[in-house]
Amino acid sequence: MKTLNIALPKGRLGEKVYGLFAAAGFGCPGILEESRKLIFENEEAHLRYFWAKPSDVPIYVERGAADVGVAGKDILLEYAPNVYEMLDLGLGKCRMAVAAKKGFRDDRLRTLRVATKFARCAREYYAAQGRDIDIIRLTGSIEIAPILDLSDVIVDIVETGTTLRENDLEVVDTVFPISARLIVNKASYEFKGDRVDELLRGLKGMTE
Ligand code: PRP
Repeated sequence: MKTLNIALPKGRLGEKVYGLFAAAGFGCPGILEESRKLIFENEEAHLRYFWAKPSDVPIYVERGAADVGVAGKDILLEYAPNVYEMLDLGLGKCRMAVAAKKGFRDDRLRTLRVATKFARCAREYYAAQGRDIDIIRLTGSIEIAPILDLSDVIVDIVETGTTLRENDLEVVDTVFPISARLIVNKASYEFKGDRVDELLRGLKGMTE
């Protein structure tokens, strides 16, 4: 049997996702134990898991280092990897949103300054509205940008809304909803199609 290589996003979401895989019959002993080990193999079941940085998962899958992986819709829309997106796992639900300081009014005569980690998503959203923007690329703590007048708005992930609330910001608009998706390497789907389908059936049984 061919080994199925699975890239999971490191962190809380990844652990939930692994729980779903295990419940679907794709468990791997030791993987949730506290350690800094990144690769785990279940030889009997011909499975190899590894923990990757969430935004790197599509890179492993696109290049075939992983046959399958799990990534948020935000990452898939931002990086547009050449992979098959095969299943919405219904986990990690949140949304991409535009947010600003309370009471913010857009002056359409001026270029809008948008701080974000998701430049492509932001560009597409504003292009569809014909709105001129200036992207300010940041890599974290985006919420401080409007407070320090580095930007007018932010385009970022909102889950509970706590980060916005505690920084006196509010949602202006939702850009798109987000959830975790199963992605598959295109060549792997040719050569390990039976194994991928087996996983898909198991996961569908758990998500439906
Ligand atoms: C994400 C996002 C927001 C926060 C939203 O940040 O960028 O800051 O979560 O969650 P909430 O609506 O539940 O408060 P993350 O923790 O990934 O860190 P970051 O600052 O590196 O983006």
